[in-house]
Amino acid sequence: MAWRVPLADIDFGLEEEQAVLRVVRSRWLSMGEETQQFEKEFADFIGAKHALAVTNATAALHMACMAIGLGEGDEVILPSLTFVATANAVRYTGATPIFADIESEDWLTISPASIEKCITAKTRAIMVVHYAGFACDMTAIQEIAKRHNLAVLEDSAHTIGSELNGRKLGTWGAVGCFSFFSNKNMTTGEGGMVTTEDDALAEKLKVLRSHGMTSLSWDRHKGHAWTYDVVDLGYNYRIDELRSAIGRAQLKKVGRFNQRREELTNLYRELLSELAPEVGVPFQAGRGISCHHIMPVLLPPNTDRVKFMEGMKVEGVQTSIHYPPIHHFQNYSRRTEFLRTGLEITEDVGRREVTLPLYPAMQDEDVRIVVSAIQKQIHQME
Ligand SMILES: Cc1ncc(COP(=O)(O)O)c(C=O)c1O
Repeated sequence: MAWRVPLADIDFGLEEEQAVLRVVRSRWLSMGEETQQFEKEFADFIGAKHALAVTNATAALHMACMAIGLGEGDEVILPSLTFVATANAVRYTGATPIFADIESEDWLTISPASIEKCITAKTRAIMVVHYAGFACDMTAIQEIAKRHNLAVLEDSAHTIGSELNGRKLGTWGAVGCFSFFSNKNMTTGEGGMVTTEDDALAEKLKVLRSHGMTSLSWDRHKGHAWTYDVVDLGYNYRIDELRSAIGRAQLKKVGRFNQRREELTNLYRELLSELAPEVGVPFQAGRGISCHHIMPVLLPPNTDRVKFMEGMKVEGVQTSIHYPPIHHFQNYSRRTEFLRTGLEITEDVGRREVTLPLYPAMQDEDVRIVVSAIQKQIHQME
């Protein structure tokens, strides 16, 4: 369907085309020099000591869980208001996701108070998600983790360039996991990055990314290694040179993309408060600097969300939901080990949240079209 205003759009130009051509002409497609450069440039951008490019953020999350040694009998505390991959990655290792509530309808990230309530003798880690690019309360979460000797992992799929207290999100925990999926602030189609400060974890992650092997095809191509050992049960979570080259081009632009996303978010906030004050706009109080990955709003209580979204569609505006809470999905709700109570704010937000279009190439006029359509829907429903 041809949307008047789509939910998201990529911003590719000549730089990305030239990057792909460069790799095609080099005749080396699997992980090599482009990937090494991409990792170095990403590590510099994020301020991380180690960065390893991978197939996607789901792989990054799985590797992070494996690298800290999660397994059967372990529990990991995470929000239910996130993409299912956050919890699935924990389950791949045999560990159990335990769902905590979010802070409030004004700040949709995991609540430190709720984390405390979820801690048991089996808890091994806290997986935070910086929803929409906005920072979790990392100071409080790190204090809890320290007190209970827990690892902190960061699902940074929504954050590329967000900061808290002058430090980029994704560098606060033991491992940061980034996504370059098509709708993300920078994209390689599918792709991801795993970052860490810890040399031993970096070594583990490197081995896990490629079948547990001690050397890569690239090393052998370069004559640095003739054979290899397999020292762990690893996976093939490698990226390729085409995506790394596109990633390098996108990384150069992401600062500008983020700035434009912020301008558009501010315009949304201004117009919504003027024309549709009934609609809640989270994340208006300050905590850190956001990369404004998505634009979530909360419909007034008891609004028929499907009807609202259908009405927006008639106006040519694509909307989405971030997220149906994970504990409601049948693959989770039918298993008693994941059942949680005390998720009241997640339940409420999960019913009312709608995500509005946001992408760097969006025009101010597009924001006006979206907000007028919202105003119309809200008044029609009154
Ligand atoms: C919060 C969150 N975590 C994890 C993922 C998984 O990322 P990927 O698609 O790169 O595997 C996503 C993707 O949308 C996400 O939004």
